[in-house]
Amino acid sequence: MEGVELHFHALPGVDDGPSTVDESVDLLRGAAADGTGIVVATPHVRGDFLTDVSDLGERVREVQAAVYAAGLTVELRRGAELGHDMVGRLTQQELETLAQGPRGSRWLLVETPFEPLDEPFHSATDELRDRGFGVVMAHPERSADASVDGAVGLLRELARGAVAQVNAQSITGAHGAAARQAAFVLIAQGLVEVVSSDAHGPTRPALLGEARARLIEGGIDPLVCRSLTFGGPRRLLARGIPSAAALVA
Ligand SMILES: [Fe+2]
Repeated sequence: MEGVELHFHALPGVDDGPSTVDESVDLLRGAAADGTGIVVATPHVRGDFLTDVSDLGERVREVQAAVYAAGLTVELRRGAELGHDMVGRLTQQELETLAQGPRGSRWLLVETPFEPLDEPFHSATDELRDRGFGVVMAHPERSADASVDGAVGLLRELARGAVAQVNAQSITGAHGAAARQAAFVLIAQGLVEVVSSDAHGPTRPALLGEARARLIEGGIDPLVCRSLTFGGPRRLLARGIPSAAALVA
């Protein structure tokens, strides 16, 4: 089974990921070598990076064409790593263009701040749910919420239907000891649905295979490790997260 990357900075020139199409192709070549078949391109959509999402589809098509021209078969999809500061600034249609999952179960990848999770963050995710979108929390293990505050903010989100995505580089230790410790604790507690690379470039490459190996070395059940990198992300794409509106209906 091919892996799926739900968090991957694959588009050139829009954030702190690759600068050129060639760099994007190199990054995606690493994903292909890692056994990945689908990559959701998730540029930072937040106040200090990209705020106009109108041409993301065209940018994805440009990189997809270059990927195919390079002889790779990785399928690219349009997505985003949404800063919670942007939720109130994007129209329903704009949010829809960044979402994944089937109709009625669409979801958005939301960046977890490094700081403790505060009321503005929870208000933003509540607004997303009110507007019909489930929430996937990007790298909660990198937040002080998990490393210092006992993941109280994450638990609040999970109770409201969110799911957690941990970074491969947290598992390998590249994000530091605190993030590694938090990643293993959250995974051992069964609170994590997905591991993704959150790739940005040569120093932050595709690492799903490496993360899976490190998790198994670290005592995580191999079936869980496979689910985090294969089944979990595939389920999220295929089934999505039922929205509160859909549940009520
Ligand atoms: Fe990211």
